[in-house]
Amino acid sequence: PVVAVVLAGGTGSRLYPASRADRPKQFLPLLGEASLLERTVSRAREVADEVVVVTRESYAEGVRERAPDADVLVEPAGRDTAPALLYATARIDAAYDDCVVLALPSDHFVGEGFAEAVGRGVDVAAATDRLVTFGVEPTRPETGYGYIEPDADADADGPDADWAPVRSFHEKPDADTAESYVAAGHYWNAGLFAWRPEVFLEAAATSPIFELYDALRAADLPADLAADAVDPDVRAAFDAADPVSVDYAIFEVADDVAVVPVSFRWDDVGSWDALERVVEPDADGTVAAGDVTVRSLDAADNVVAADGAHVSLVGVSELAVVAWDDRVLVVPKERAQDVKRLVRDLEDRG
Ligand code: GDD
Ligand code: MG
Repeated sequence: PVVAVVLAGGTGSRLYPASRADRPKQFLPLLGEASLLERTVSRAREVADEVVVVTRESYAEGVRERAPDADVLVEPAGRDTAPALLYATARIDAAYDDCVVLALPSDHFVGEGFAEAVGRGVDVAAATDRLVTFGVEPTRPETGYGYIEPDADADADGPDADWAPVRSFHEKPDADTAESYVAAGHYWNAGLFAWRPEVFLEAAATSPIFELYDALRAADLPADLAADAVDPDVRAAFDAADPVSVDYAIFEVADDVAVVPVSFRWDDVGSWDALERVVEPDADGTVAAGDVTVRSLDAADNVVAADGAHVSLVGVSELAVVAWDDRVLVVPKERAQDVKRLVRDLEDRG
């Protein structure tokens, strides 16, 4: 079978004040009435036989409410995506004899053609001993994504039009490097992956997360994914681990990686300005998300989001204006990335 692992443990702090400590980005109904997580689970069901959501303890209840038909796996400790995916893959390996894991972020915008393209990647994972990534053609030198360099002179061992071997993987380069990658024809990493459990586990064994691998290998993992007891040695290893994403821990170091080029529309929707790439603007160029009515007078090209508000804009442009709960954020779109810094400071003040 194909087992989807939906990653739902991140915070999405740049979408403050809609995202808050107890209400991460994936729980938000930003693109219609269903939350990003619910949209992801429905998308996963188009391709997968089983859907498992892996998340941190404090989000587990919110995940169960939004994905009642999925198995919910609570990671022993929140340590970013490499430990989360290792834990999920080891548990799935104990539960299924023969399967392909499809890992999906829970917080993306995805357009038409997803199931067909992802199905191709799952087939590559089933037929080869490679970790499979999905490559999106870049449209700007984004520094928030990973970049995949395909091996242009690949020959011999069987690649066809569906995939190419990966020469190198670079997570989140600086702006100049990103520019050179775009010029050189590298892909964006879509954050979606496919692998057979044994291929991922073997890569993890010699990676920066090898201690977690060793602990999981020594443990007697239950065959039932719903079992929630955690082996004390596994918990201790997770508690002691440093956070690291799968991009750095596995993909930058693994040898046998494949890239499957995809052409569906795709966006990480990481910050407020990103909404204008995925939501149709009105005649004033206003992009609205959530539950909001906007009145503009001599105001243009603003992003407005709220959870039930009437927002009036006079004589302003290129702003993001967000009203959620009892909090309001106003930021020029071009500084939308800085919201992360703001939130860090807010948290410092408790
Ligand atoms: N279970 C769990 N535990 N999930 C997590 C954790 C964790 O500790 N941390 C993050 N996640 C989830 C997020 O909720 C999201 O759905 C997904 O994992 C990806 O994490 P992000 O933190 O959003 O990653 P990113 O956007 O900075 O970078 C990744 O995605 C890009 C595309 O959006 C990388 O894979 C990049 O290479 C890629 O280009
Ligand atoms: Mg992301």
